[in-house]
Amino acid sequence: MSTHTAIAAVAKGQFDAIQVEMEKPGAGQVRVKVAYASLAAFDTYIADVGFGVAKLYPVGLGLNAAATVVEVGEGVTALAVGDRIMAFSVYEFGRGTGGLSGTIQELLVLRDFLCAKVPDKLALEAAATIPDNFVSAFYALFDQLALPVPAAFPASTPPPDHALPILIYGAGSTSGQYAIQLLHAAGYTNIVATASPKHHAFLRGLGATRVVDYASPTLAADITTGGEQMALALDTISAEGTLAKIAQVLKPQGAVALLLPIKDGDTVAVGEAAMHMAVPEGRNPFTPETKIVYVRAFTYYQNEYLKDNLMSKILPQLLAAGIIQPNRVRLLEQGTFKERVAVGLDLLRNNRVSGEKVIVKVP
Ligand SMILES: NC(=O)c1ccc[n+]([C@@H]2O[C@H](COP(=O)([O-])OP(=O)(O)OC[C@H]3O[C@@H](n4cnc5c(N)ncnc54)[C@H](OP(=O)(O)O)[C@@H]3O)[C@@H](O)[C@H]2O)c1
Repeated sequence: MSTHTAIAAVAKGQFDAIQVEMEKPGAGQVRVKVAYASLAAFDTYIADVGFGVAKLYPVGLGLNAAATVVEVGEGVTALAVGDRIMAFSVYEFGRGTGGLSGTIQELLVLRDFLCAKVPDKLALEAAATIPDNFVSAFYALFDQLALPVPAAFPASTPPPDHALPILIYGAGSTSGQYAIQLLHAAGYTNIVATASPKHHAFLRGLGATRVVDYASPTLAADITTGGEQMALALDTISAEGTLAKIAQVLKPQGAVALLLPIKDGDTVAVGEAAMHMAVPEGRNPFTPETKIVYVRAFTYYQNEYLKDNLMSKILPQLLAAGIIQPNRVRLLEQGTFKERVAVGLDLLRNNRVSGEKVIVKVP
């Protein structure tokens, strides 16, 4: 069996370019040739501190691929050899359906429902920014926070509670940008976001009603202008510091969605500091009435409607109609394959990524 190059965590604190074998695609699967893959903070959690590693190395890195289909398995009807696709390779402890998972590798086997066709006008490197955070935002809003899924985007009539105050905390992040675009397209009219000032005009352009600087000394008052507390919040950072800020502006009976893991501190990458899968005992800043929703986008496809529609139908339609735009690309294409990934991991572990997605050319 032939081999190809993949970038994988090989031990705690170590990653490398390794040679891996790839199975043939099984029923409902496709084999793709990856052109670009994304890196996210989650990859530093795996590579640097072994977070989410179930003892077994190597663990492939990367969650998004922009790729070309090279082989289709039995029963795949919506995709064909030659199709340009983007895909969300949900994390399953580094082992996928066809060998090593993780998108930072030359060839990859994926389940067909995790793939979306890329519209002709969209470059593959831009497409590689989308799947993980688009799915995270959609799943958090329209499943986990239980907002009604609009019959169409843009919604032809606003939802009944369109003026509900909804906070997107940390909207400079890549998932925050999709959350704003989705809420706006769904017809919501009271979308409050926090981000550093350099992103404000951009986020208003995506559909935020108001944007507030999260470093403001009067943050709570800035968010609750006129005394209106937030009914719903999506914390797209989900660190100890951001939870505390949200607790000050959320209605006691409100709901907050947290993108796991919850980090100690106030940043996305926290090094050796602790990360949690629930708010630690005795450290919950919310009132007992507040609903806390823990989001795990890797399991979004347990919602059958989203499994059948989100990547294959909804995402291509939103992109073709110009309703969703990709994140800004920080493209790493110099040096060897491993060197590019090293540069990206370093940016992420030092919290030096702001409003953009790190994309690695493959190989
Ligand atoms: N469980 C899930 O389903 C799920 C899904 C997606 C993401 N996540 C997690 O969510 C976190 C964010 O991931 P990501 O990839 O979206 O991150 P990202 O795009 O790399 O986030 C970078 C942005 O975070 C913002 N930021 C950092 N600290 C902040 C703070 N204290 N307050 C407000 N904004 C802050 C910065 O905004 P400025 O530029 O404005 O400073 C920066 O632009 C990670 O821990 C990730 O693992 C979980």
